[in-house]
Amino acid sequence: MKITFKINDKTVEARTGWTVLETAQHYGIDIPTLCHHESVTPSGACRLCMVELKEGNWSKLVASCIYPVKEGITIYTETERVSNVRRWVFEMLLSTCPASAKIRQMAANYGVASTRFPISNPDNKCMVCGLCSRVCEEVVGLSAISVVDRGVHKKIGAPFLRPTDVCVACGCCVSVCPTGAMQSFFDQVRGEPSMRLTQLTRQSAQEVKTS
Ligand code: SF4
Ligand code: SF4
Ligand code: FES
Repeated sequence: MKITFKINDKTVEARTGWTVLETAQHYGIDIPTLCHHESVTPSGACRLCMVELKEGNWSKLVASCIYPVKEGITIYTETERVSNVRRWVFEMLLSTCPASAKIRQMAANYGVASTRFPISNPDNKCMVCGLCSRVCEEVVGLSAISVVDRGVHKKIGAPFLRPTDVCVACGCCVSVCPTGAMQSFFDQVRGEPSMRLTQLTRQSAQEVKTS
């Protein structure tokens, strides 16, 4: 069944179950995203994909990657409110992951070069969007990593932040990470090469024992 609505005053058709973002992408309408990947369940973590939804004489901002399409709604992707919230999200990202060249580049492309928010960790690249762990769980089927801790202490890692041999080093998490952070977490998840050797030696010894 088709659902008809409007994006930027253009009539579009979506399939039941599509989100606003999926429909926009289908029609080649650009909406910036960071925590979204078509292969995994959307989480709405970064808020960069906000768009303005108008119904009658009221409007609100919604995250397009998690907003399901509805018959007759009107979506605008480039209003003043959308630009303001995008700017705000980029400034927040520049303050939380200032070491990410990818974020800096993307923010610059949208005209944001600095942030008015405080920078607590100048070396941080991770925005804790969880995309890496969703890919590990939903695509690779392993759950080697997850978001650990809570609130401002949230971070990505293996259970107890210790290296894990559940990880098969497929690299999917590294390739989907939108900020370049996962590359630097990789040794923490897999263990230093010397430690991996110790794990392998332990496994081989175990195998010999049980054979
Ligand atoms: S490592 Fe990358 S994908 Fe994973 S939570 Fe951090 S920013 Fe997101
Ligand atoms: S490299 Fe390891 S942690 Fe990353 S997706 Fe693959 S199995 Fe999961
Ligand atoms: S892409 Fe929609 S919230 Fe991140």
